Amino acid sequence: AEPLNIALAGLGTVGSGVVRLIETNAELIARRARRPIRIAAVSARDRSKDRGVDLSRYQWLDDPAEMALRPEIDVVVEMVGGSDGPALALARNAIAGGKSLVTANKAMIAHHGLELAAAAEQAGVALKFEAAVAGGIPVIKGLSEGAAANAIERVYGILNGTCNYILTTMEATGRDFADVLAEAQRLGYAEADPTFDVEGVDAAHKLAILAAIAFGARLRFDAVETTGITGVLAADIAQARALGYVIRLIGTAEIDRVGTAPGLFQRVRPHLVPCDHPLASVDGATNAVVAEGNFMGRLLFQGAGAGDGPTASAVVADLIDIARGEKGAAFSMPSHELEALEPAQSGHR
Ligand code: HSE
Repeated sequence: AEPLNIALAGLGTVGSGVVRLIETNAELIARRARRPIRIAAVSARDRSKDRGVDLSRYQWLDDPAEMALRPEIDVVVEMVGGSDGPALALARNAIAGGKSLVTANKAMIAHHGLELAAAAEQAGVALKFEAAVAGGIPVIKGLSEGAAANAIERVYGILNGTCNYILTTMEATGRDFADVLAEAQRLGYAEADPTFDVEGVDAAHKLAILAAIAFGARLRFDAVETTGITGVLAADIAQARALGYVIRLIGTAEIDRVGTAPGLFQRVRPHLVPCDHPLASVDGATNAVVAEGNFMGRLLFQGAGAGDGPTASAVVADLIDIARGEKGAAFSMPSHELEALEPAQSGHR
């Protein structure tokens, strides 16, 4: 069968992981995708950097913009990052050029997902972003496919590995915030700008994407009420523990029926979690998502929310779907069922 030709833009933690995964599992991926997945081109800012993978066998492009123009390329995999700028230009141009787009970029999808999904539908290509939410956990697939027949009442969980790593490490060792954050950065969990992690913005990006899918709501990142963990003191953690709780940064999206019309209320903030709740035992850079549906009951998804292997695994799962012929986007609902509430409008306040 004809290979699916892919181009990788960005070779950081995730991009290098994708190369390694495609090389290591090439045969089983080809069997499951029903055709080989071939890396046709790669691009990153610095060609000479050692990434622990041999890139000499792949065509190098100095300018990723070229990916959108090359007829032999079927899919552009955007791992550049940033909600706008070069990542968004590449995404728009790739789709306009008739290529499917796979991205790990939650900031870009949170801000521009609706526009990109509409463009992908119009162009007859796929827009896939499993890696953008909760790293290796197939939560986009789980909600858009597995839970598709359910009315969802509430989705909540731990959506930022860096914050969870910081909170659980502070809890276990008594080390201070800055020291643990530096370690999370060394381990490759943190965003290029770690304020996105610790201020809750990264979790809010992911929550808005999840909520749009779970509730069929119009994607509204700007309507997420967001508080991060920078105000959490070691003393708060100790006091919570004395009362039988741990502190976790939780993103929640739920239907608010307090006002005249039901709306979607979305928020990210540190919560007290009872020690016997499943979310209390989610340690380190792990993520966990709970979804409650009217027929399926309560589902718990748990796994690595960051890091090269898990995130690459989600990217390549999307590529396998595309190789099998999938088109469109998980946002592609004809009409939105629910509108997000501005935080101040919510009766839950
Ligand atoms: N900075 C993110 C996190 C990476 O810590 O969860 C994965 O999206």
